[in-house]
Amino acid sequence: MSAELPDWPKQTLRGHRLEGHRYTSREFFAEEFEHMWTKVWLLLGREDEMPNPGDWQREDVGPESILMVRQADCSIKAFYNVCQHRGNRLVSEETGNVRRFVCKYHSWAYLTDGTLDYVQDPEDFPEGNPCGKLNLEGLPCESFAGFIWVNMDPDCVSLKEFLGPIWDDWSRYDLESWKRYVALTTTAPCNWKVVLDNFNESYHVPTVHRPMGTAAERKRMHSGVDTNYKNTRFDLSDQGHNRMIMPGGYAGVSLDEDGTIGEPLATIMREWELDPEAFKGRGQDTRKALQEAQRRLGPGRGYTHYAKLADEQFTDAFHYTLFPNFAVSLWSDGFHFLRARPHPTDPEQCIFDNWWYASQPEGETAPVRTTVGIVARDIEVEHEVFKPGEKSMGRTIDQDLEIFPLQQAGFRSRGFKGAYLSGQESRVRRYHELIDDYIEGVRP
Ligand code: FES
Ligand SMILES: [Fe+2]
Repeated sequence: MSAELPDWPKQTLRGHRLEGHRYTSREFFAEEFEHMWTKVWLLLGREDEMPNPGDWQREDVGPESILMVRQADCSIKAFYNVCQHRGNRLVSEETGNVRRFVCKYHSWAYLTDGTLDYVQDPEDFPEGNPCGKLNLEGLPCESFAGFIWVNMDPDCVSLKEFLGPIWDDWSRYDLESWKRYVALTTTAPCNWKVVLDNFNESYHVPTVHRPMGTAAERKRMHSGVDTNYKNTRFDLSDQGHNRMIMPGGYAGVSLDEDGTIGEPLATIMREWELDPEAFKGRGQDTRKALQEAQRRLGPGRGYTHYAKLADEQFTDAFHYTLFPNFAVSLWSDGFHFLRARPHPTDPEQCIFDNWWYASQPEGETAPVRTTVGIVARDIEVEHEVFKPGEKSMGRTIDQDLEIFPLQQAGFRSRGFKGAYLSGQESRVRRYHELIDDYIEGVRP
């Protein structure tokens, strides 16, 4: 496999003034929903969480609620979660298994393929028996990387076309077989774009996510293993998705003053039969050494997807933002899933999900290292939903979450005249340009 992944096409940015009302105004929120959210593919479900016919999952996006249902032939269909009688929500739970969906209001019942199967007093409808006439309202639904994606636009392009170069990058990891180890959801007191803007730039990383310890105790790793923006690759796809590759991402960024390899890198090196002591003062050599060790030892340990990975995919931090609301950090064996969904009614809140998936090499029993700690490999993870600040989302995400409400408050100020963006924030700029394009009816 190649040592380097190809660059994505160069994009021309128009320049943009990002004013506060984009994050606070109900009018903008409504425009965005009507013209953007209803026209894009949205990652909503996970195939392996609904293995059997009749299994279903519900996910909400702004004012809409979507049902994904496993069919008798094992395909998946998606429907709006709304009864065709008088508009009651069909389900209010998160997941379940049914033979028929029965509305709790007047007991109209729908088969799992959406067909209306039963109504009370069918002879009493002046316009005729609704069975055979009315069905659940379906919407386009496809799967990729084990995730279920839904689009509210009946005339949408295919998911593959929408994902562009993401499709090839992610296909190398066999993500459909990876398992979830963290599932945390909270309401964030900010507009959904505050979250995505944050994941669309690394300018805040040295300041918000400072390495642990004092400056005297730790220093940044140097050449070859550096997260400085000058050594970072930024790619913008035609479809609006972004990729950022940091060559030093695996190393936890810091070395001890005397050149001793710190944690977690030292442990990771030992796992791949490398002696961190032997690399004292040679931090920059650990990247190549780890790539070679993983490529050599991985397949024999059941890490079959390694055969398809490029060298840099073993060690470097791959951060993706998928338009409009999904950010991912992808490691050779870890998938950090970050998603912001608009609140049903309030532009100044959003639903924020923080999940972690790990690869499943055959025979591997070692626990999984996630951003919220070490998790036993055979565990079944419960989805936890909580209020902001009630529970940690992991150190890094907690640090981001502390900023979000402060920035949201600043967006309400008449003293804020619009963002003044650096070059390394060009992904933020492009995201907003795309939102405006969608609102004006222009598609990428
Ligand atoms: S609203 Fe569903 S049966 Fe009446
Ligand atoms: Fe951050």
